[in-house]
Amino acid sequence: MSETTNKQQLFINGEWVEGSTYTKLTSPYSEKEIAQIPSANDEEIDNAIEAAFQAKAVMAKMPAHQRASILEKVAVLLEERGDEAATILAKEAAKPFVYAKAEVSRTVQTYKFAAEEAKRLHGEMIPMDAAIGGENRIAYTTHEPIGVIGAITPFNFPLNLVAHKLGPAIAAGNTVVLKPASQTPLTSYFTAKLFEDAGLPAGALNVITGGGRVVGDKIVTDERVNMVTFTGSPGVGIGIRNKAGLKRVTLELGSNSAVIIDKDVNIDKIIDRCIMGAFSNQGQVCISLQRVYAHEDVYDSFVEKFVEATKKLTLGDPLDPETEVSALITPGDVERALSWIHEAKQGGATIAAGGESEGHILHPTVILDADSNLKVSCQEVFAPIVVINKVKTVEEAIDLVNDSRFGLQAGIYTENVHTAFDAADALHVGGVLINDIPTFRVDHMPYGGVKESGSGREGIKYAVEEMTEMKLVIFNRN
Ligand code: SIN
Repeated sequence: MSETTNKQQLFINGEWVEGSTYTKLTSPYSEKEIAQIPSANDEEIDNAIEAAFQAKAVMAKMPAHQRASILEKVAVLLEERGDEAATILAKEAAKPFVYAKAEVSRTVQTYKFAAEEAKRLHGEMIPMDAAIGGENRIAYTTHEPIGVIGAITPFNFPLNLVAHKLGPAIAAGNTVVLKPASQTPLTSYFTAKLFEDAGLPAGALNVITGGGRVVGDKIVTDERVNMVTFTGSPGVGIGIRNKAGLKRVTLELGSNSAVIIDKDVNIDKIIDRCIMGAFSNQGQVCISLQRVYAHEDVYDSFVEKFVEATKKLTLGDPLDPETEVSALITPGDVERALSWIHEAKQGGATIAAGGESEGHILHPTVILDADSNLKVSCQEVFAPIVVINKVKTVEEAIDLVNDSRFGLQAGIYTENVHTAFDAADALHVGGVLINDIPTFRVDHMPYGGVKESGSGREGIKYAVEEMTEMKLVIFNRN
């Protein structure tokens, strides 16, 4: 890989390949050029898929301890080069350095979990004699790798969400064609280098960039690809599902995540956490805190303290370690967010903080009394915008949380254990956080949503299950 010009190369069949055409990658914060990115043409996309197809047999035969050892090595190499990885992240995604470093630490853990899961992948004995006619048969299941996995990943956690595809895929003995988001290819090339240095066989990981939708479409429709794993917007996810035919598809899509605050909650204890949930990574997180439903007894206090804390956030250059909020991923996203704020104002909501932009940074924005039909309430904002509404009861809040196309994670703060468990039953989401914000994820927990938030689960063990085929073996002793 060229270090001097920062001209990147495709990674196909274990080789770094010059692209036939290049596009400029610029910083979302400063608009300065940070790299030249190759655009894969049809032949290169085909070569990447063929390399993954040919490497299937090698990976399927590789013993578990060797797959685990490659993943452990990746974790070690990443830890050693942590600051370098965080700097790339901050530059290409405008992720504030403090959050970039946190993402690197999480990614190290993700690969460690993947290494552990590689060694744990096992089937079970089936008691065949439980059925009349099943006597004298010994049966067991195994989990075989599914084959070639097409991984299409987003810009918001470009290191760790790639690890959530590559880690379980390699743990289970698969091969991968990775297409990272067009704004964040550098972390994927960085990751490919780690796998190369860790000794992954040629063809087991291929990284192709550019080419827009064409690359994604080819991955999704090519017969040699057995599974597609996608994290990104619901629109694209639904398109993938429609085109993928009988391929296995897992989709981690968006949400308009909410938290409920019950009447007895100590507001001082939860403000910092709610601020982090709403504004970390500029709100560009699928489980970002977008809607708050506060009981009328605590609403005023919550709003006053939340707005005060919002105004104290430090905005600026993602490379500055003091920065808490930086640029949105594209200028178009700033425009979109501003127009949604405008719509909220026109619709009678109050803008209690923010509501304007500075360069490519949208000021953290707090909106009060927003109708549930407004875009800031019912669509995924993916920007530092939070809506706070007053409710009379937790039941009313639960109905409002569930009145959504999405259902990824939801939180409830309450001192009442019955209220907590009733809410856990009633909330229609993939994960309920009791006494926490929805913006919580550690990397081995099951993670995924219902409704338009997707299908399937990540979290290494669960993703490994999705990335294998169960096979049954029956030995007839009769
Ligand atoms: C996401 O945005 O879906 C990922 C959130 C996380 O991993 O923390």
